[in-house]
Amino acid sequence: MIERAEALRLMESKIANKNLRKHIYSVEAGMVRLAKHFGEDENIWGLTGLLHDLDYDVTAEIAPQHTFITEEWLKPYNLPAEMIYAIRCHPGHAPCRTSLDWALYTTDPTTGFIVACALMHPSKKLINIDAEFMLRRFKERRFAAGASRENIAACSYLGLELADFLMLVRDGMLSIADILEL
Ligand SMILES: [Fe+2]
Repeated sequence: MIERAEALRLMESKIANKNLRKHIYSVEAGMVRLAKHFGEDENIWGLTGLLHDLDYDVTAEIAPQHTFITEEWLKPYNLPAEMIYAIRCHPGHAPCRTSLDWALYTTDPTTGFIVACALMHPSKKLINIDAEFMLRRFKERRFAAGASRENIAACSYLGLELADFLMLVRDGMLSIADILEL
């Protein structure tokens, strides 16, 4: 299994954009928090988050190729098939089947939504946004419109209520609040 330090170096060698890196760290932190909640493998879930958007820069102009180039790049590392499959599922290239698949699928749009919530709060701090604040923003269709409400609501496939799911991902992101500057 790839070490986190090596996965981090790989990601940083492929992704230069600071905001995209923050998105990736956020997804990793959210995935680790969810794994902890479900008693799943935090290492596998976290690394799936850390590596999920590896080809984002090179597929910006060829969106249908998103994740397939990542798969090519990851081949030498012989990662567990479940990680590769979850990465393939996250933009809808394959149907989600496992909790790992659903976790990545739902956490991906949720991190951006939570960043937007934090920035809207007067304090601009993750620590100060609670479930109620996020649920109110969730219902405002024009707020963070790019964050698919349908994809976020797919947390129901994890057996989680929306409020609980949003708080778990926020908690994960809170653990790296200094990196996120939020
Ligand atoms: Fe992503």
